[in-house]
Amino acid sequence: MFWTRSYWLPPQGSAFSNEVDVLYMALFWLSVFFFVGITGAAVYFSWKYRYRPGRVTPHLTHNTPLEIIWTVIPLILCVIIFFWGMDGFMKYAVAPGESMEIQVTAKKWLWQFEYPDGTRSVNEIHVPVNKPVRFVMTSEDVLHDFFVPDMRVKHDIIPGRYTEIWFTPTVIGEHHATCAEYCGKGHSDMQAKVMVDTPEKFADWMATGGDEWMRHTPEEWGKIQWEQKGCQTCHNIDGTKSKGPSWKGIWGEPVKVKASDGKEITVVVDENYVRESMMVPGAKVVDGFDNIMPTFQGLLRENEIRGLVAFIKSLK
Ligand code: CUA
Repeated sequence: MFWTRSYWLPPQGSAFSNEVDVLYMALFWLSVFFFVGITGAAVYFSWKYRYRPGRVTPHLTHNTPLEIIWTVIPLILCVIIFFWGMDGFMKYAVAPGESMEIQVTAKKWLWQFEYPDGTRSVNEIHVPVNKPVRFVMTSEDVLHDFFVPDMRVKHDIIPGRYTEIWFTPTVIGEHHATCAEYCGKGHSDMQAKVMVDTPEKFADWMATGGDEWMRHTPEEWGKIQWEQKGCQTCHNIDGTKSKGPSWKGIWGEPVKVKASDGKEITVVVDENYVRESMMVPGAKVVDGFDNIMPTFQGLLRENEIRGLVAFIKSLK
């Protein structure tokens, strides 16, 4: 129908966008109808009842049927608009239970996204087509606002609390997200790419984590992992003892450990030892430390493990 077509709205990218557009266009055409009707009547009556010499204005105080009509019709329209809008708002506000969840952290002036498996990305998100995605959002500093025009979703992001939006992307390709709340001089730089992928391409992206790692040397990439994945909570790199052993100067050196069968053995810190310590931390526990490290099985990609190994190697 001509009146549901959007001639100037962005392309539709989510299962929800058509519904939003239909309501929007209905309100638009309703407004056009009343604007033209009321303005037209005002202009016409101004002309028809203009002053002419000798003309007598009839004395009318009110017209009950007319007053009922102009009260009841707008009332009915308002009630329809309310329930129509509420129906859409309920769908918009409540994400389906099976949604994939992405954590969004807004800060001056970038977007950070985190996937359920710990994958992080900056200013770029990938989502699989035709699967609902829920965004749980918070800010580290001031008010921001996550706006994805193609998906017809937009919500404030508030420091110290969580807000959420969700959508089911339906159109494969690149979409665009932007900050829609003025947040300082970098506000207009707060842009993000929303990539809607085929399931295969999405799985591939999740497995490799995109190509950010290619832009760093393995040592740098390892240091980023040490900071981002929480290694630094227990492992210092300056030689001091923390909840876990320091990483400084351990590469290639012998270390006394207690194996999982309870035997005290001495091993040399090499690639296999480091990798095993991440995946099965209890297999060899360094003397003087408790077996408290969580496993990172499934939380680290090959490029991240290689980076961490290179980082430890570089800590002379
Ligand atoms: Cu963030 Cu504007």
